[in-house]
Amino acid sequence: MKDKKTFYISTPIYYPSDKLHIGHTYSTVQADAISRYKRLRGYDTFFLTGTDEHGQKIEDKAKEAGVTPKEYVDRIVDGIKDLWKLMNISNDKFIRTTDEYHEKAVQYIFNKMYEKGDIYKGEYEGLYCKPCEAFWTDTQAADGLCPDCGRPVIKAKEEAYFFRLSKYADRLLDYYAAHPGFIEPAHRETEMVNNFIKPGLQDLCISRSTFKWGIPVPINPDHVIYVWLDALTNYITALGYGSQDDSLFRKFWPADVHLIGKDITRFHTVYWPAFLMSLDVPLPEKVYCHGWVLLEGGKMSKSKGNVVDPVTLAERYGVDPLRYYLLREIAFGSDGVFSNENLINRINSDLANDLGNLVSRTVAMVQKYFDGTLPAQREQGEFDDDLRAVCAKSKEEAEKYLDNLYFSESLSAIWRFISRTNKYIDETAPWALAKDEGSRARLAGVMYNLCESIRIISVFIAPFMPETSVKIREQLGLGPVSSWDECAVFGSEETFTVVKGDIIFPRLDPEKELEELASLNKAPSNPLKEEIEGIAKIGIDDFGKVDLRVAQIKSCVPVKKAKKLLELTLDDGTGEDRTVASGIAQYYTPDELIGKKVILVSNLKPAVLCGVESRGMILAADASDGGVKVIFVDGVNPGTKVR
Ligand code: ME8
Ligand code: MG
Repeated sequence: MKDKKTFYISTPIYYPSDKLHIGHTYSTVQADAISRYKRLRGYDTFFLTGTDEHGQKIEDKAKEAGVTPKEYVDRIVDGIKDLWKLMNISNDKFIRTTDEYHEKAVQYIFNKMYEKGDIYKGEYEGLYCKPCEAFWTDTQAADGLCPDCGRPVIKAKEEAYFFRLSKYADRLLDYYAAHPGFIEPAHRETEMVNNFIKPGLQDLCISRSTFKWGIPVPINPDHVIYVWLDALTNYITALGYGSQDDSLFRKFWPADVHLIGKDITRFHTVYWPAFLMSLDVPLPEKVYCHGWVLLEGGKMSKSKGNVVDPVTLAERYGVDPLRYYLLREIAFGSDGVFSNENLINRINSDLANDLGNLVSRTVAMVQKYFDGTLPAQREQGEFDDDLRAVCAKSKEEAEKYLDNLYFSESLSAIWRFISRTNKYIDETAPWALAKDEGSRARLAGVMYNLCESIRIISVFIAPFMPETSVKIREQLGLGPVSSWDECAVFGSEETFTVVKGDIIFPRLDPEKELEELASLNKAPSNPLKEEIEGIAKIGIDDFGKVDLRVAQIKSCVPVKKAKKLLELTLDDGTGEDRTVASGIAQYYTPDELIGKKVILVSNLKPAVLCGVESRGMILAADASDGGVKVIFVDGVNPGTKVR
């Protein structure tokens, strides 16, 4: 058993294929907040993040860009590191799966599983989703679309190595049953058990031979190791597992938390535990599946007028307000909706009004009434006990929630104390006490309690907004927080000498900000000229074989048991309804679609998808953030040919 005073947390390692957006930032900021909290509580903490750089998708993108895969990832990884630096992320290590020590350790892991008899050679025939790097069977992706992301899958048939995942089904179920809280929130566990393990676990294909960009299979260099086996093992290779020096592994493993987005639950709660069982390595304590940052009506998309680039937002509003917003806005395990408007409102109400004002008012009063330094003569009075009681309660709740990674709830508890402190100013009315010479001692007592409250708040917020904590403490004449225990005693400071500082959170003019953000969004993006030039050319007659028609969506309902699918009823101009199933349920609600005109591929062979007979498909495009955009048209009658 490892030392109890260590704490190991990981974020997912990110694909360096797209620009990272505030959704990715959300993952990393959570891990940072909890790491900072644990360090303040005296834990020897290891916080890991990094990049997942192999796989077919990267190889393809590099080819399109005309560079080697390594050149391609190198360019992007620097930008990711810069983003984490900007966001004040305190990771202890940044792993790249192209790091040599990782590649060697993954080969060691492959060999170990092979020697154990858990890997065998066979033939893979099935479907593959490149964006997700995931294998699917014909039934799972019956509509030709990936059940996870809704994008088209490709056929794959190749000699491959397989991992005996099926062998571990019972052990996985037993493990979940014996370790409540291993997967959180609990409904994710139910989902895995019912939808994935109980229907029968298939052995997992763990090598590819149709492309090169990966870690070679040690026993057969014609193959590369499946990117998810490569990626998941980062959590132990980063600690030196499978290398000469595994002291970090012995110190920190098992991980306390793997923090992941809900979309990669299966990889972390089924595959990864089975790999670890095969290696006779203990399982992580917890896999915590957070929700998504969504935009109103769907996943992220720039076209909705919201800036999702964390760099733009952090530079404009500050790193801490963005961190605060992300951690506050999304409740435990659920999705949260991002909007510029919410962000600006939160900054104005919670930060500028509640917290910023409290600090500036208090500092100004201590200067005005006591020339900056509080005297020793202080009197206690009405409201003081309640202020202390709320402080103690907030501390208890903030800790309890933070220990469970309920960031939003923890911040709410902290803000209850901030509100209580603001109310204390109204109740004690220092300006009135200041008018009465006989109330000097009481006035000093009130100001002391306010400074003391702010000092404790500066400890509470340190994991969430580290720079703000420092700035607030500077105004109280204090250095940075060094231990969480500093919030344990109300009244521990002898006195305060305040220093006036800049306004911590300037108030924003919402109307002006929204306008400016909207105009920022309209900046033109670079067309990928080379990419288009690189695609094979077809003749006009090839194109003519595709019959494209304008069709109007008359109704739209979700398909039962297929959470990605919507069943659309179309008016295609023939006078007869046409049914089409489309894998866009994650991106559109029926309301957003009904009445819209779309482009229909009308002569596609019919197919039955999850019980729906689909006649044709509608055109959509991949959005810049990984979402999907249906192509809508206007001013054209249903049935009109598109050419
Ligand atoms: O999945 N809101 O990488 P990735 C919240 N390389 N979280 C989001 C999000 C959003 N809108 N969009 C993405 C991978 N994420 C693999 C991981 S781990 C061994 C390998 C989260 O770059 C997403 O849920 O596609 C995932 O947890 C993480 O960002 C990385 O996504
Ligand atoms: Mg993803």
